[in-house]
Amino acid sequence: MTVLELEDVNAYYGNSHVLFDLSMRLEQNEVVTLLGRNGAGKTTTLRTITGTVPRREGRIEYLGEDISDRSVDAISKMGIKMVVEDRRVFPTLTVVENLQLARDLSADPRPVEEMFDIFPVLDDLRQNRGRNLSGGEQQMLAVARALIQDPDLLLLDEPTEGLAPVIVQDLREVLGDVVERDVTVLMTEQNVDFALDLGERAYIIDRGANVWEGSIPELRQRDDLLDEYLSVGAQEAD
Ligand SMILES: Nc1ncnc2c1ncn2[C@@H]1O[C@H](COP(=O)(O)OP(=O)(O)O)[C@@H](O)[C@H]1O
Ligand SMILES: [Mg+2]
Repeated sequence: MTVLELEDVNAYYGNSHVLFDLSMRLEQNEVVTLLGRNGAGKTTTLRTITGTVPRREGRIEYLGEDISDRSVDAISKMGIKMVVEDRRVFPTLTVVENLQLARDLSADPRPVEEMFDIFPVLDDLRQNRGRNLSGGEQQMLAVARALIQDPDLLLLDEPTEGLAPVIVQDLREVLGDVVERDVTVLMTEQNVDFALDLGERAYIIDRGANVWEGSIPELRQRDDLLDEYLSVGAQEAD
């Protein structure tokens, strides 16, 4: 079953045209990675799906329904949740309070205790305030806040950004668990290793347009694509 389909989507910030006839499709329970360098339009693509981009055109279908004219609220209620890049958690609230508040946003949320099963790191930090968590812990909490709302489609914007390698490994394990739980995932990444490790299929975009799509095993063979369209390691240094 197709969960999400974008057909010739265009997006704009004021007069600035950012996405150009972008198309993609996600099947149920797939983990799809959206790759592209900084400024390629990855975040804008996710915001186009959630309706938070100022102007969008083209067709966006979610579970067979056209959502391209739906409001941010309506789209969220339909089961699409996004974890933004700056991993917003409430700094003065505890881990448990952060989760409870997220539960209130869903008509049919998952139990708080289930999140502690998935995110054992958070179990030890129940009464800690958001502001006292490390970057990695905040990212876990941000993902848990989305997941507790029982989304059908989870959008993750650069989940590994700014995290130490050992934390990235933890996050990989946790997200591996998450995707076992009947959720379709679209994530953006600049960390190619992480994307190649976790995703099943990938889209590469450049300057707001599709340049490649295929399976992760195919992508592993394509150093040319990684070199041309992704900011890999040393290349970025200059
Ligand atoms: N709020 C905004 N207003 C105007 N331009 C923006 C805004 N957000 C992003 N852009 C521009 O849109 C393009 C795509 O950005 P973005 O989707 O954030 O790329 P990515 O997430 O791949 O780094 C960039 O040229 C960026 O400068
Ligand atoms: Mg981005």
